[in-house]
Amino acid sequence: APTTTKTAEQIVGAVCSACHGVDGNSVITANPKLAGQHPEYLVKQLTEFKSGKRANAVMSGMASALSDEDMKNLAAYFSNQKLKLAAAKSNGAGSLGEKIYRGGIAATGVPACAACHGATGSGLPKQFPRLGGQHTDYVLTQLRTFRTGERANAPMMMTIATKMTDAEMAAVADYVQGL
Ligand code: HEM
Ligand code: HEM
Repeated sequence: APTTTKTAEQIVGAVCSACHGVDGNSVITANPKLAGQHPEYLVKQLTEFKSGKRANAVMSGMASALSDEDMKNLAAYFSNQKLKLAAAKSNGAGSLGEKIYRGGIAATGVPACAACHGATGSGLPKQFPRLGGQHTDYVLTQLRTFRTGERANAPMMMTIATKMTDAEMAAVADYVQGL
């Protein structure tokens, strides 16, 4: 029997747009912006939601309905959308968030985020995600779930998050939104 293949636009319109926006600039701050994100990173996340390596009740359901080809098409679609930037909520230049992002925290061995997420927050090819412009709420949730081990698909980030306090996480999560 012929398989019915849906285009990325069709899947986005029917499913993803409700939570991530039709252009990947989610309005709900708990949901990540996907616009401008590296396609390889997006494919990795969808694959790991499907396999359960990255646990999330909502997204595992979404990803289990996608084929490898759908994932590639959706990743290409969202990575090509223009990211809409937002201002930092409270702390910018000279703030604790900026210090952590650019210099890490020497006393507790937290490395500079910029080493892997880039000086401008745009990430590095291919699987180092863009953080610049991402919602503070979403970033904070990820740091917390790396620390608890609920998000277990990123050993580097788990190690880093276990060394961070709530206040440090909040500061850097606020900073990256405005990057
Ligand atoms: C996370 C894609 C549908 C809610 C993500 C991520 C991707 C993604 C790639 C991870 C982003 C990152 O790590 O930066 C998609 C696609 C969809 C879809 C391609 C359509 C097929 C939805 C829908 C909802 C939703 C319909 C809401 C009902 C979320 C939430 C997260 C997320 C809450 C964060 C999960 C967490 O905290 O780990 N999505 N999504 N998504 N998505 Fe979706
Ligand atoms: C993912 C924050 C330092 C490598 C992430 C995510 C956040 C984050 C919020 C999830 C992004 C998303 O879901 O869209 C930070 C902060 C850092 C930091 C605040 C500094 C305190 C680093 C460093 C490295 C690194 C130094 C490299 C040694 C990665 C990688 C991922 C990631 C590879 C993707 C994980 C995956 O595939 O699921 N980081 N990061 N990060 N980070 Fe970091």
